[in-house]
Formats: sequence, structure tokens, C-alpha cells
Amino acid sequence: MDALEAMVTRKVVRQFARRPVELEQLRRIVDAGRHAMSARNLQPWQFIIVRNPDTLRELGALCTTGRFVADAPAAVVVLKDTSNARWADTDCAQAVCNMANAGWAMGLGTCWVGNFDAAAIAQRLGVPGNLAVVTVLPFGYPADGNPPQPKPLKPRREVVHFERFGSSQP
Ligand SMILES: Cc1cc2nc3c(=O)[nH]c(=O)nc-3n(C[C@H](O)[C@H](O)[C@H](O)COP(=O)(O)O)c2cc1C
Repeated sequence: MDALEAMVTRKVVRQFARRPVELEQLRRIVDAGRHAMSARNLQPWQFIIVRNPDTLRELGALCTTGRFVADAPAAVVVLKDTSNARWADTDCAQAVCNMANAGWAMGLGTCWVGNFDAAAIAQRLGVPGNLAVVTVLPFGYPADGNPPQPKPLKPRREVVHFERFGSSQP
């Protein structure tokens, strides 16, 4: 699958097959994150690859809106350098985008988890005080019988303009 196809077909996956994910795939996913754009190229991110099922279960319990992390075969915990406050969230979000699309291109799904007990996750994973949890990204093959659902996309005419706001003609 090429990059454009991955970007326009990707859907969040919250239910995962029991099939394991190779460490090499996770390395490639994180590499895609490492290659994201970042303001002044500060690369204010760190990534923790988690594959231990007990740790994944604990993380799932700490993810208020991402209990499904517990049942994923792997996860990437994304951390930001808090001393680089101006753009760190934006930079890390781009790393997340890259990782989601890279995973999708390899047949793996993920879902951004937005609500979690950041302090507890940081403590559990030994995260130093200058870093904060941005998100937990589970990764796995989509569960059989639960294909990712198409999302309602805003129509192009509602969000794309030519030359001036409100002009629908190029
Ligand atoms: C910043 C952000 C936070 C999100 N938080 C959650 C979350 O906590 N739990 C969840 O199930 N999905 C979460 N999502 C996934 C969105 O619901 C999903 O991306 C959206 O419905 C569009 O679906 P799609 O990504 O399949 O196109 C989050 C997405 C983003 C970008």
C-alpha cells in the first residue's frame, strides 16, 4: 500500500486479533514517528514500545477512554519533552499520524487514546520527570468480523476553498 492510499483508507481500530505483532514492525512504525516534522527539528518525542501482556493490561486499566489497550498485542506510549512546551504537542501529534499511517500500510490498526491517568502511566513505565505522556497507541491486526467502520467525512465543498474563503471554484 502506498502512502496516499494508507492516509485515505486508515480507520481507527479498537478491537484486535490475537495475532502477534513482530518487533520489527513496531520498530518500523516508531521509525516513521521519528521521521515526522518537528518545529526547529527539536524532535521532542520519546517512544516506549510495550509488548508485555501484563503491562498492556495495566495500561488499559489506566486509559479511561482506551480500555481496548489491554487487549492489544502491543502499544507505543508517546512521550513529549515538557521543556519544549511551545510545539511539543503538535510535533508529537505528527509523529502519531506517521505511526498510524505506517502501521496501517502494514495491515496494523491503532487508535489515539486521549484520556488516561498520565501520572500513573509515567510511574509504571519509569518515565523521567522532564517527559509527559501524550498518548498510548495500541497496535494490532484488526479483529476478524469487526472491520474498521467508515467515518462520516465532511464533504470537500464544506472544508476546501480556492483562492478565497467561500469560493468553491478553482
Ligand atoms: C486527539 C485525538 C484523541 C482521541 N481520543 C480517543 C479516545 O480517547 N478514545 C477513542 O476510542 N478514540 C479516540 N480518538 C479516535 C477518534 O475518535 C477517531 O480518530 C475519529 O472518530 C475518526 O475516525 P478515524 O480515525 O477512523 O477516521 C481520538 C482521536 C484523536 C485525533
